[in-house]
Amino acid sequence: MTPDGFQQWLKHTMGLDAASIGPGVVERAVQRRMSASDRADLTAYWHLLRASQLEQQELIEAVVVPETWFFRDSQAFAALSHHYDPLWAAGHPGERLRALSLPCSSGEEPYTVVMALLDAGFPIDRLDVDAVDISERALSKARHGAYGNNSFRGRELGFRDRHFQLEDGAWRLPASIRSRVRFIQGNVLDIAFLPGEALYDAIFCRNLLIYFDAQTQVRTVEILRRLLRPQGLLFVGPSEASLMLAEGFVSAQFPMAFAFRKAPPKPGLDITAPAPRKTVAAIAAARPAPSPRALSAVPRPTAPVRPAPPPPQLAHAVDESLLDRAQALADNGRFTEAATACEAYLQTHSASARALYLSGLIHGALGRDSAAEDHFRKVLYLEPCHEEALMHLALLLETRGDAAGARVLRLRAQRCRSAAAGRQESQ
Ligand SMILES: C[S@@+](CC[C@H](N)C(=O)[O-])C[C@H]1O[C@@H](n2cnc3c(N)ncnc32)[C@H](O)[C@@H]1O
Repeated sequence: MTPDGFQQWLKHTMGLDAASIGPGVVERAVQRRMSASDRADLTAYWHLLRASQLEQQELIEAVVVPETWFFRDSQAFAALSHHYDPLWAAGHPGERLRALSLPCSSGEEPYTVVMALLDAGFPIDRLDVDAVDISERALSKARHGAYGNNSFRGRELGFRDRHFQLEDGAWRLPASIRSRVRFIQGNVLDIAFLPGEALYDAIFCRNLLIYFDAQTQVRTVEILRRLLRPQGLLFVGPSEASLMLAEGFVSAQFPMAFAFRKAPPKPGLDITAPAPRKTVAAIAAARPAPSPRALSAVPRPTAPVRPAPPPPQLAHAVDESLLDRAQALADNGRFTEAATACEAYLQTHSASARALYLSGLIHGALGRDSAAEDHFRKVLYLEPCHEEALMHLALLLETRGDAAGARVLRLRAQRCRSAAAGRQESQ
């Protein structure tokens, strides 16, 4: 038996494309399981694997990437609570809102769904969240509902004080939130995946498809299509958005939320039009853009004889709208155009952390990992504690096998977080 045979088994069983988690990861996991199960060589371990469901689960646990945190790519949750707001609840009397988090890992994502809707005033006694993952280990942590600092990233941590209680050094969610989520162990590739479940109003399938090869991605998208209600919203990860467009979904037009629908786009939709309420404000890491009032207050130049450079304020507004456009294009999965718009902006604003971060995301979505890495590093040069850039960079390093480099970045993020918490306390 060769290491390739194990990679094939993992691909067939759980869809894992070994290349997606970095060179040698599967091989090392197999070696670890081989010695843990006292097997002398790969052939003996292969026989055990084929015969034992327990060992199959152990090998799966050894290769999954459970990386997740609360309010990850937070624009998705802003979009969710914008769409399914108290008005929606009032307009659909007697209806329950059904959401699915697939995969849910250790629970941060489905619990975020509950917190986001609760904060937006949605009556959460009418909310049912199903949360599925293949990893029993991750699910057991999810059911427990207590979390360490690593689950809280980013600069906006007000939700932690609102919803969690510190118990024995861990942040614990109350039963009122935990009880809204039903955790289910499942493999999205199982023939009978979620049999007989009613359709979902919102599905979060983020950061799963990136681990699959093209064929398995398409197969999974078909499963999601089957599970989503006709008007429902499907959220994917930033690097998965272009796949959704290729598979016939349409953007739901929420900036940087990577939200899609089944329905065809409205004719003549203008992606430069103002974004829906709430979501603009929720664009993560965005420097404050000029408000419409500020823009209209800018005096128009009076019939210049020669084309004159725009007044500085107007020039700023024009520039900012270029960046907003880049963001809107990215949200629509038009990453190549988004990259061009972003680079044009960076020509004159090379020290804009917002533009560099957006550019990093866009390059990442285009699979240009080294350009993405370069941009995230520049963000960190400007803002050494830019948490999202630290986390994205750590993931990129991990993907190319630099686990030590990734660890250093995560530790740095932790230090930044503690320092920020300390500053808050002393205020
Ligand atoms: C990176 S986490 C994503 C968690 C969350 N959606 C997020 O974006 O933060 C990926 C998860 O996918 C799960 N997973 C991998 N293959 C799966 C499969 N075939 N079916 C269900 N879950 C799977 C892993 O166990 C892991 O917890």
